[in-house]
Amino acid sequence: MLPRTRIAQVLQSGVVGDKIAVMGWVRTKRDSKGGFSFLEVNDGSCMSNLQVIAEKGLPNYESEVMKLQTGCSVRVSGTLVASPGKGQKVELKGEEIHVYGWADPDTYPLQKKRHSFEFLRTIAHLRPRTNTFGAVARVRNSLSHAIHTFFQERGFLYLHTPIITGSDCEGAGEMFRVTTFDLQNVPRTDGSVDYGKDFFGSPANLTVSGQLEAEIYALSMGDVYTFGPTFRAENSNTSRHLAEFWMVEPEMAFCDLDGDIELAKSFLKFLFRHVLSNCREDMEFFNKFIDSTAIKTLEDLVEQDFEHITYTEAVDILTRSGESFEFPVKWGTDIQSEHERYLCEKVFRKPVVLTDFPREIKAFYMKCNEDGKTVRAMDVLVPRIGEIIGGSQREDDYETLRRRIEESNLSLEAYWWYLDLRKFGSAPHAGFGLGFERLLQFVTGMANIRDVIPFPRTPGNLSF
Ligand code: 4AD
Ligand code: MG
Repeated sequence: MLPRTRIAQVLQSGVVGDKIAVMGWVRTKRDSKGGFSFLEVNDGSCMSNLQVIAEKGLPNYESEVMKLQTGCSVRVSGTLVASPGKGQKVELKGEEIHVYGWADPDTYPLQKKRHSFEFLRTIAHLRPRTNTFGAVARVRNSLSHAIHTFFQERGFLYLHTPIITGSDCEGAGEMFRVTTFDLQNVPRTDGSVDYGKDFFGSPANLTVSGQLEAEIYALSMGDVYTFGPTFRAENSNTSRHLAEFWMVEPEMAFCDLDGDIELAKSFLKFLFRHVLSNCREDMEFFNKFIDSTAIKTLEDLVEQDFEHITYTEAVDILTRSGESFEFPVKWGTDIQSEHERYLCEKVFRKPVVLTDFPREIKAFYMKCNEDGKTVRAMDVLVPRIGEIIGGSQREDDYETLRRRIEESNLSLEAYWWYLDLRKFGSAPHAGFGLGFERLLQFVTGMANIRDVIPFPRTPGNLSF
């Protein structure tokens, strides 16, 4: 039996006369009056289908080939012939067609018509067989590879930070608890839960960020990065929030906020350039069916400089804008996504790096500025999405950090090791977190974050 050739490879480098076998799923079948059929076969390796010609002479033509429908899985062995049709150079003349699995057209949910993304979410086990979700999966894969390439080429060390942790990185209390307690019968001492009897002997959570552990390694290995799943139990039912999402977090020793921003900008540009040159076919699909500005947006960004303003300047622009926002803006309040989008889409028409936020609205670990009011934080905002990156220079002064932990009502004991890093060989350091799904949303133009991750987890929703 011939080994399997991927359709991407056939369409890229197959030549007339090649004897090959492909395996995949039938997208459509057309029967021609002359006693043959055309099958469109897709194997996920690329957007395009391979056209297969099946002639009446095949031993199973009437018993099987004629009965093939959308969704059936097949192996087709045969010879590549010149394709008279537009678009592809070759098609496959089937000499042997084997059916692996049937798909009853009366019950197979993916029929030729276009389904809504809402409906497709209810069949997350089948949606990767659609053009859109196939393209999302390939771009997601390609960007994952590019992320590693970017950091590896720059000498960063890939660090595996824990999923289960005892600390809350963002100090926001938005964590999922990890326990083996029988919830009907939780051990208590004097009315309060006795975590000493739980699996780890203390409270444990799913991580909201790998940053704190990345800082440990940055302060011994120099430049590190993490790329893994993070979990947030925030009850945000928006098109930009997931309860489980993937984050890329570089952390650099001997680096300040300016160095952090420089890295973030070259990182994003590298990824946009990568997608433009490596995911052409999928990007053309997104450009045609999802967002007609998708490719142009990326092409412009690769050339453009990002705008850079401080939080205080942003508040000024927003209050003087005359816009009526749902959330009014005043110095000291959080910038909401409507404000972020207004700045990127209406004011500057490009990505914006916002820096120097009030310290009250930011996490305890951010380095305090000399003004005593703001911290060396930065958010990168992009059109349509708003915040895509959040980062900062870290507080490296022991006393200041200790005060910040106390001010934030966090426990000094829980952060003893984090404070230790400021006691022994402390050094300026900085890092950021890129939300991987927000990046994918931005690149593909997909409107809802639930459609750029294979199995979305959101409040009230865990069907797969
Ligand atoms: O701004 P955040 O909360 O920053 C941190 O977690 C830092 N510890 C990162 C660091 O400095 N190492 O989150 C970083 C990014 C956001 O800009 C956003 O893109 C994404 O993570 N993000 C989410 N993406 C999807 N769903 C959610 N619920 C998200 N929350 C944050
Ligand atoms: Mg943030």
